[in-house]
Amino acid sequence: MLTPPPFPAARPRRLRRTPALRALVSENVLTPADFIWPVFLTEGEDLQTPVASMPGVSRLSVDRVAAAAQEAWSLGIPAICLFPYTSAEARTNDCAMAWDPENLTNRAIREIKDKVPDIAVMTDIALDPYNAEGHDGFVREGEIVNDETVEALVKMALAQAAAGADILGPSDMMDGRIGAMRAALESEGYQHVTILSYAAKYASAFYGPFRDAVGASAALKGDKKTYQMDPANADEALRLVARDLSEGADMVMVKPGMPYLDICRAVKTEFGVPTFAYQVSGEYAMLQAASQNGWLDGPRVMMESLMAFKRAGCDGILTYFAPAAARLLNG
Ligand code: PBG
Repeated sequence: MLTPPPFPAARPRRLRRTPALRALVSENVLTPADFIWPVFLTEGEDLQTPVASMPGVSRLSVDRVAAAAQEAWSLGIPAICLFPYTSAEARTNDCAMAWDPENLTNRAIREIKDKVPDIAVMTDIALDPYNAEGHDGFVREGEIVNDETVEALVKMALAQAAAGADILGPSDMMDGRIGAMRAALESEGYQHVTILSYAAKYASAFYGPFRDAVGASAALKGDKKTYQMDPANADEALRLVARDLSEGADMVMVKPGMPYLDICRAVKTEFGVPTFAYQVSGEYAMLQAASQNGWLDGPRVMMESLMAFKRAGCDGILTYFAPAAARLLNG
């Protein structure tokens, strides 16, 4: 670090005096091209069902998802990420719906690719939307089993690739899944399909509203601490990123976002690869709740929180604020 010249030669406030000077020395920019918009799906027709714990967020039926994708694309948002809601009755122990070509996600991928072919479609790979036990992997005698889960996740990945997904997002935190998926994609003719690995995903209480949104809250027995990371760990995040990159991940993610900006910075500095953060449901809910109460200025905290990810080194952000923030940025 350079030692700044002594006062009065150095008056850092000179560069903060006018909007023009501030714009000139601004170190980071935020644009709609930085966003991936997570969207929830629901069975049915002509539905837009609000998620109670996420004000401003709704689950969309497949017939409405192309319009949402079109809106995102017109706003300059390059990617949309799909998450299916599953009722308690539709959940099973074998999770077979996860790799069904006709499941909600795969139908939505085809619908978007048909109507809005240019937008990148990202998916989530994990068994939790389909699992009667709400976990990301199969539960056998109370344990979340790794290798059997990986086999199922590979089938799920291939079904999504076949439907036309551009970016696969394994969020399950099983060991060996990136390598297994990459090998299967290569041998089945999906060499072009990218993997954005949820590499450093923590066992976080900030996922609460999301689990309501996908119908997993009631199903989930216990916690996810045997596969998601301990919030106390940082070195481990770097080992997991290195591992996923060596297995063939094209991009990596840190999740949650705001409480883990130190991890974002460390990953970007150490590896210099495309690095994403997921500003998760609980972070969104927190900001929206405070704004609705008049305790925070909603638009300003939204933009500040998003810029913080850029400053921390992220190339992009998965955020439920994507359309609102893009609208503000586009003026
Ligand atoms: C599930 C998954 C979760 C999220 C994305 N994929 C929840 C979890 O791991 O329990 C959370 C996203 C959010 O909270 O916005 N594999």
